[in-house]
Amino acid sequence: MVSQAVGNQAQIKEGKTQSAAVVQEACKPFLRWAGGKRWLARSLAPILRRHLDTSGGTYIEPFLGSGAIFYATAPARAILNDLNEDLVLAHAAVADVPDYLVKALASLPVDRETYNAVRELAPKSPFERAVRMIWLNRTCYGGIHRTNKQGQFNTPYGGGSRRPDVLWREGIVEGCAQVLSGDIDLTVGDFEAAIDRAGDGDVVFCDPTYSNPNRDHFDRYGPSVFSWADQVRLSSACRRALGRGATVIVTNGAYSQLAEIYPDAYRITLKRATSMGVRRKAGTDDEYLFILDPWKRRRKWAGLGEIENRLKQAAEASRVSALSEARRPKVQAPRAIVRPIEPVLD
Ligand SMILES: C[S@@+](CC[C@H](N)C(=O)[O-])C[C@H]1O[C@@H](n2cnc3c(N)ncnc32)[C@H](O)[C@@H]1O
Repeated sequence: MVSQAVGNQAQIKEGKTQSAAVVQEACKPFLRWAGGKRWLARSLAPILRRHLDTSGGTYIEPFLGSGAIFYATAPARAILNDLNEDLVLAHAAVADVPDYLVKALASLPVDRETYNAVRELAPKSPFERAVRMIWLNRTCYGGIHRTNKQGQFNTPYGGGSRRPDVLWREGIVEGCAQVLSGDIDLTVGDFEAAIDRAGDGDVVFCDPTYSNPNRDHFDRYGPSVFSWADQVRLSSACRRALGRGATVIVTNGAYSQLAEIYPDAYRITLKRATSMGVRRKAGTDDEYLFILDPWKRRRKWAGLGEIENRLKQAAEASRVSALSEARRPKVQAPRAIVRPIEPVLD
């Protein structure tokens, strides 16, 4: 494992993504995350990997979550961003101090009492915030990150097989640390600033909180709500990145209103297996994949599913952009995480 890690790091430093075989072993994300894209990684990551190896560009993921596509792609250079600071600190701690992290996670007994006590804690140090985030994620009910209106984590204890041990038994932390050993920039903030950094040859993968435009509030990740205006703002930022030569991929719920705000993107409907035995109406688990390709290489993406549309004229796309530009709020610059994370030793 150690010699494999050294080889992988040399490859990453050369500016190449890691080989498919290594990634199959090392690609599992260390968090479970609602809306996580592990199921899509097998088909999408090889395409993104080939693209980045050819273009030498940067991989950008503005809605990182567990980073399933990032870890499967294993790019040499990446910009990773999320609004959730504890989550970004968790990725940073895996990158900087994986061994200390595993030691700290393994030191906590897995039982309801400890769980409730850890959930109440509000540690200040970046390392302890990362440990708390990862440990709660691996021991909470269903791996669901749910918070109240004050932003406090309130998912109940998971019990049973919900334990963090798998992270070191299966070498998941070690694998993720290898993938993070490239040139990786971790930031906390709104998606728009991260997308605005994309340029020629870069790949932007956007997996926002899904919006049902038929309701006036949408799914929650933390105390803020991802509104319909955010979805429109996202489509506009993606189009600007496209104009600078970046390839942009956006996933979203399969709502026709969303298709209207990506008139210049290839659209594929992905059918997801219904998760966790929840009964849903047929079709409600469908997701759209929008692909904004500066070279319009239709065939390159066909392996992901049937491309259902013809691209609309540029005039239609610029009409949508003009609408969203008019309502564009000022966005704060993202904050970089102070690295390396310092371990806290008891
Ligand atoms: C569907 S999840 C991403 C899941 C990820 N693709 C994975 O594989 O786990 C959406 C993420 O967007 C983040 N988020 C929500 N609003 C945001 C915003 N305005 N800017 C940046 N990130 C945001 C949430 O914290 C959450 O982690």
